[in-house]
Amino acid sequence: MSKYLITSALPYANGPIHFGHIAGAYLPADIFTRFLRQNGEDALYICGTDEHGVAITIGAEKAGVPYQQYVDGHHKTIKAFFDKLNIRFDHFSRTTLPEHFPLCQEFFLDLHKKGFIKPAVEAQFFCVKCNRFLADRYVTGACPKCGAGEVRGDECTKCGEWLEPSKIIAPSCKVCGSVPEIRKVTQYFLDLTAFAPRLKEWLGAKTDWKPNVRNKALSMIEEGLVQRSITRELTWGVPVPLPEAKGKVLYVWFDAPIGYISATMEWAKLKGEPEAWKDWWQNKDSKLIHFIGKDNIIFHTIIWPAMLMGQDKPWILPDNVPGNEFYNLENRKFSKSEGWYIDTDDFFSKYSVDALRYAIASNGPETADSQFLWEDFAARNNELADTLGNLVNRCFSFMKKNFDGKIPAAGELKPEDRALLDGMAPAFEETGAFYRSYKVRQAVSRAMALAMAANKYVNDTAPWTLRKTDIVRCATVLNVASRAIINAAVLLYPVIPDTALKILAKAGLPPGDKPPDFKPYEPSLDNMALGEDSSLLFAKILPEQVKAEVEKLKAMGEAAQAK
Ligand code: 2FM
Ligand code: ZN
Repeated sequence: MSKYLITSALPYANGPIHFGHIAGAYLPADIFTRFLRQNGEDALYICGTDEHGVAITIGAEKAGVPYQQYVDGHHKTIKAFFDKLNIRFDHFSRTTLPEHFPLCQEFFLDLHKKGFIKPAVEAQFFCVKCNRFLADRYVTGACPKCGAGEVRGDECTKCGEWLEPSKIIAPSCKVCGSVPEIRKVTQYFLDLTAFAPRLKEWLGAKTDWKPNVRNKALSMIEEGLVQRSITRELTWGVPVPLPEAKGKVLYVWFDAPIGYISATMEWAKLKGEPEAWKDWWQNKDSKLIHFIGKDNIIFHTIIWPAMLMGQDKPWILPDNVPGNEFYNLENRKFSKSEGWYIDTDDFFSKYSVDALRYAIASNGPETADSQFLWEDFAARNNELADTLGNLVNRCFSFMKKNFDGKIPAAGELKPEDRALLDGMAPAFEETGAFYRSYKVRQAVSRAMALAMAANKYVNDTAPWTLRKTDIVRCATVLNVASRAIINAAVLLYPVIPDTALKILAKAGLPPGDKPPDFKPYEPSLDNMALGEDSSLLFAKILPEQVKAEVEKLKAMGEAAQAK
């Protein structure tokens, strides 16, 4: 039986992450993992912080703190944020982990020995004033491909092109602003040209991938792969393991994806089975799924697979790379420095984690950019309150009051009861197919359709009226409605896990030690005692709250601009 090794892009430990990141690479992976576990499938979900590279060194230098101290702080903040959002990794590691270094060096040496990594002399920017080579983001200028200004030295944030630093137009030193000179220096290059035929064949067979991901990779091969430099003149990073390469470290994008493996090794070690990682990384029955944002496509579909292909070890290759588009905030990019962000402490003091997860999942950037709009968030929250929350509350409190806190036994079923009950199996089949194929938006709306059908059923049958006229029929309706509620909770568990478990507990189902099975609940509900908890699931968000939030955001944006 196959098993799934799931990863989310390792976030840089250089700042807090925001809802945009969550929508792109983390929530979809968490949902996928939870769904697999509900199906009894073996899944391992791995992540960690990306702690090398110039994004980090520049950040630490600006903050005036040592690199290690800087990443330690951000690692903690980022981890806490994921915990808050109920993103449940099996292990969350970091690339400054000591075990990560020898593994990266082994990768380098293996590829070097096989002739896939070669040295070459390259022209590089050198800032005389700062007395150093300007790696990656230490240099800024315009993109030679799309012309966008303010690019960084390793990639254009506008068009996504991977830049060779020395090709940048009108370069300047990011630290002191002076115009750098060009100097020759030896770097090591990964020969991607050697992998082109294999990559093309491999990607060609991936017809089930998202078209945006696969097409981007294939067109990159079409344009012609080249030699990519994978070393830098920096003091922070994994040292290049060659005596003649003193003072050089591996480029962060060489070491980062290896972090997926070292994190798995750490996970295995911590659980006392240090060899267990091999069963995930070197086992042909293991399916490797990388959840990423679209800016990471080339690295995960070309460079990283080439790094794995170029060795004799039995590394598995990515089975799928569900890449998402970008998720913005009220028509602009999330940006702390531009005051365009959501203060998450403030947010969660007022709104629920599951409402956020639900709002993002319902409108995730799966095939096109999407965004967080306060109005949409309120609408989604209220949809949960009106459809699910209200249904649960109406039915369960009515049974508490009138049926001695139990789900009453069902009598004879009528066609409308059967219609609702017969809809359960297809709801699971169709919702499951959507989850499995990374179509979370459709999964959510299919699952909610069941909750809506249950609502309609309860409105139409009106058990509150039946109580006085036909108590047996009233009991039957509540029994059938309870089953629909339980099933809706199970269907939505991957998206709103806390709420789903709460609903099951309210229905009187004991909390299991594993997530609820992804199938229609079958045992009889007759006379099952309801749980104690009678709290409301969701509070509605009012239009004036939305208005206040939008105004606050605008004021923050303006204040940042004025500054
Ligand atoms: O773009 C980023 O934020 C990178 N830190 C992602 C790395 S993904 C992986 F390869 F580690
Ligand atoms: Zn300088």
